[in-house]
Amino acid sequence: MKLFLPGPVSVSEKTFAAFRQPLIGHRSGDFKKLYGRIQPRLKELFGTRQPVFLSTSSAWGVMEGAIRNLVGKKVLNCMCGAFSDKWLDVSRRCGREAEPLQVDWGQPIRGEQLRDKLQQGDFDAVTLIHNETSTGVMSPLAEICEVMRGFPDVMLIVDSVSSFSAVPIPMNELGIDVLITGSQKALALPPGLALFSASEKAFSRAAQIEGRGYYFDFLEFKRNQAEDMTPSTPSISHIYALESKLEDIFAEGIAARHVRHAELNSLVHDWVRRHEFEFFAPDGYRSRTLTCVRNNRNIDVPALLRNLKERHGIILDGGYGKLKGKTFRISNMGDETRETISVLIAALDDSLPS
Ligand SMILES: Cc1ncc(COP(=O)(O)O)c(C=O)c1O
Repeated sequence: MKLFLPGPVSVSEKTFAAFRQPLIGHRSGDFKKLYGRIQPRLKELFGTRQPVFLSTSSAWGVMEGAIRNLVGKKVLNCMCGAFSDKWLDVSRRCGREAEPLQVDWGQPIRGEQLRDKLQQGDFDAVTLIHNETSTGVMSPLAEICEVMRGFPDVMLIVDSVSSFSAVPIPMNELGIDVLITGSQKALALPPGLALFSASEKAFSRAAQIEGRGYYFDFLEFKRNQAEDMTPSTPSISHIYALESKLEDIFAEGIAARHVRHAELNSLVHDWVRRHEFEFFAPDGYRSRTLTCVRNNRNIDVPALLRNLKERHGIILDGGYGKLKGKTFRISNMGDETRETISVLIAALDDSLPS
């Protein structure tokens, strides 16, 4: 079976071979060498001079951790889909005061809306999902970061879970305080590892916040990082796989990787137009890693998924949460190529219910 889900995505044999290497002790010299070895490439990929941390958790662990570490007064959660909406709930479950900046599902978060909200409230942090995977919307990060420059005491926490490494996100240049991603999306690793980096400003804030807990305490990560280690026993297998993936990424070239994702995304867009479907996201704000197709033709989406699976061994997503059946999502993230996307497109042509 081949996954064309917007995460987890198919993992290559090379990556799995790296994942299966014999384990080493996580306090050993060999581990420290491995950890230290991948830092320069991770920093380049994050566009940061700060260390990049590895958390053995899915992304939500660090997304919740960012709230616990950085929110002292009140957080503004930018909400435009299932994952970004959930961050409000998570913030409140962490006992923090939180307010929504809610736009309709399918719309992006715009800089002006953010400025208006920040001018009204006493916020000390903002959460933003760069690429809302449930709706296929990519919010304009540069525009948002420009607005954030007017509020230097407000921390910007960005989830790049489904856009990281597929589009440019220069963390330092943009002034992002915490940038978070997960392993099972465009990095095409098995699920279970989250990666993040934090600004000096974020560490200073964390130092003033009580109740950061232990597992996701950013200052614990920083302390251990100084010795090329993680606070607790990490998934060493994931780190082997990550090293192998970094080799692939740098062999391809970061810029070429971005171009590849854009090209493959446009092949999917051509298919959508050819079959007279519509896009759920507006022009100019469409994700480059997945396409959320509006089911304006009212096709039998479960039949499409069944045909793809039974005739072609392909797994596709039939819409997330309240968009189930009203949309379906086609991923082009990870190791996909013109050839694999062409195979997908031929399979889609063959599997569309009449
Ligand atoms: C944009 C976004 N953020 C967060 C998550 C949550 O990631 P995880 O389930 O790996 O914690 C997802 C999962 O699909 C996602 O797409």
